[in-house]
Formats: sequence, C-alpha cells, structure tokens
Amino acid sequence: SAAEKGGWSSFMAKEVSEEPEAVANTLRGRLHEGAVTIPELDGLDDLFAGINRIIVIACGTAAYAGMVGKYALEQWTRVPVDVELAHEFRYRDPVIGPDTLVVSISQSGETMDTLMAVKFARERGAKTLSICNTQGATIPRESDAIVYTHAGPEVAVASTKAFVAQITALYLLALHVGRVRGALSDAASVEAVRELEAVPAKIVRVLEKEQAHIEQFARWMGDTQSVLFLGRHVGYPIALEGALKLKEISYIHAEGFAAGELKHGPIALVEPGQAVFVIVPSPRHSAELHKKVVSNIQEIRARGARVIAVAEEGDAAVLPFADEVLRIPLAGALFEPLLAVVPLHIFAMGLATAKGLDVDQPRNLAKSVTVE
Ligand code: G6P
Repeated sequence: SAAEKGGWSSFMAKEVSEEPEAVANTLRGRLHEGAVTIPELDGLDDLFAGINRIIVIACGTAAYAGMVGKYALEQWTRVPVDVELAHEFRYRDPVIGPDTLVVSISQSGETMDTLMAVKFARERGAKTLSICNTQGATIPRESDAIVYTHAGPEVAVASTKAFVAQITALYLLALHVGRVRGALSDAASVEAVRELEAVPAKIVRVLEKEQAHIEQFARWMGDTQSVLFLGRHVGYPIALEGALKLKEISYIHAEGFAAGELKHGPIALVEPGQAVFVIVPSPRHSAELHKKVVSNIQEIRARGARVIAVAEEGDAAVLPFADEVLRIPLAGALFEPLLAVVPLHIFAMGLATAKGLDVDQPRNLAKSVTVE
C-alpha cells in the first residue's frame, strides 16, 4: 500500500533512500574504539584461527557483494578467498574440509541454491557462516555462525539496501577475523573503522547531490536498447551489479565487464551511441589504475560511445571524455563500491520508471527463489 511505501513511489525508491541506514544499522554495536567486535561471534576465535581458506557462496546481487568482500577479506585476514555462485559450487567436487570457512550471503536466508550449497559444505566438514538479513531464516539456522545484516525488510524484488548492508557485514567480518588471527594492524583497523563510520553520510550526499540529476538523465535515455558497465578492482563487481539491476527491472540488454578485458573482446561491441558506464577508481589510491581506466574511456569514446563516468569529486581527468559525470565523495579504495553502486541503483530505477514499468515486481522474477 501507499502507506507502507512511506510516501515513496515504489518500495525500491524507499529502499534506495534507506541505503545509508542499512549501513549504519549493520555497523551499530560492532565498532568499539577503532576495532571491530561482533558479539555474535564471541567464542569462535578458535574456529577463525583454524581456517586456511574462505569460500564465499551466494546468488545474484548477494554474489556481487561477495566479490567486493573478497578484496577486504584477503587484505585484512590474509586468508585466500574464492567467491563462487552457490549452484556452481555444489555441483562440482570442491576441495574443502575442516580448515575451510564457507561464508554464505543471502538477504532472504531462503534461497534454495544457497541453502543446498551450505548443507553440502557442512557434509564435507567445512565450517559455515551465514550473512543474512532475515532473523531466524533457514540458511542461518543451518550454519555454525551468523552475522546479520540490519538493512530492515526489503520488499522490492531487486535488491538494493541489502547489497550495501552485505558489503558492510563482510567488511566487519574481515576486520573481526583479521584481528582474531593477528593479521590486522591496529592502525589499519582504526583507519577502516573510521572509513566505515563515514559511509552512511557519504551515501546521503550521493542521494542529495545526484539523485535528481540521474533520474532526469535516465528519462532522457528512456529508449536505450543496451548499456555496458566497466569497472576495475572493487569497481568490477559494481559494474556487474549495475548491469544486473538494469536487466532485472528495465528489461534491456546490459552487461558488466572488467575494464581490463575491454581490449580482449567487449570493445567490439562499441559503436556510435552505445551507452557505457565506467566506474573510475580514485587517482589518489592508484594513479596507475586510474590512468588505465581513463585510457579505456578514451578508447571507447573514440569509437563513439556515450560515456557516463562514476568518478570521485574533484577528478577532472574524466571531464574531457565523459558525456555525464556522476560524482561520489572521496573514500578509501575499498569503500568506494559502497558509494559507486548508489548512482547505478538510481539509474536502473529511473530508466525502468521512464519506461512505465513496475520497478518493485519485475516480470519473471521472485524476491526469493526457493526452488533449485
Ligand atoms: C533472487 C532475487 C535477487 C537476489 C537473489 C539472491 O534472484 O531476485 O534480487 O539477489 O535472489 O537472494 P538472496 O535472498 O539469497 O540474497
């Protein structure tokens, strides 16, 4: 009903507006004086000390959160991490055992593919930890440990606020496990906690400064047939998520690529007028990576692409080559995805709305897929 939407035109619009709280509520009670302590994980130090491998399993948007989480898990725990789609993981013969931690991610906690993969991991003797947004759901009940996201109920089929909450929970887990294992320096912990605490206000800033602009621009792109998304490093899964969201709710062809792959294939798709979103990494973190992505932009622009850059405030290098620049506030390298995804969520919603589609209930999709 209209009342449940709290004055918003759709649940998805409401849920995107709640992305700042989804992060803040997931952090609440878990940060203390520059360190992360997750009370639910008390008593599990031996479990975390005893692993030598982490496998993250999930489906859909949750799997992209997992791909972002891999960078943080490896950086802060120094344990090797693989990310795999739950349905693929289960139907091969993975090398896992008691020294493997399988981290599942699921908003609903009921996705059958993910649940079966968790059960399979347990049968093989692996340790299991569930990142879940739904209290008491099946997947957390089947797991050795649980870290809840506190995004609040998500109603729209396309996941938005749960995604930023999942990344937040993965970062908290990485910092917790890194500290327990002695892999994380105090300075790195303090810095990460400071960055995490700043994320909600930065998302608010993206919404305030860019939402109206993106919606207007999405209306203008209303008859676009195909959109490509390019990203690198943590921007790569964000490109995949931007493409997925567009497919799910606006029914147009969309594909995300690792920017470095451009010359190995995708550039063949670029013809005049092709819309391409490019997630531009901050030049402050890696001048080299930034330069490479800017040169990707030049390459596609030379072939007539219409470039929409998602770039940090003050990055002037993209201005000469971009048709649109969507700005995100400055953040640490690992924290940029939590900001860069917001314009992509707004864009997908704007384009679907411009096409007169029901953004909350896209055709053929279910919020939670409880069959294999
Ligand atoms: C469905 C939804 C997606 C979601 C995926 C995983 O396909 O349409 O939005 O990302 O399931 O759902 P989960 O509840 O496991 O996060």
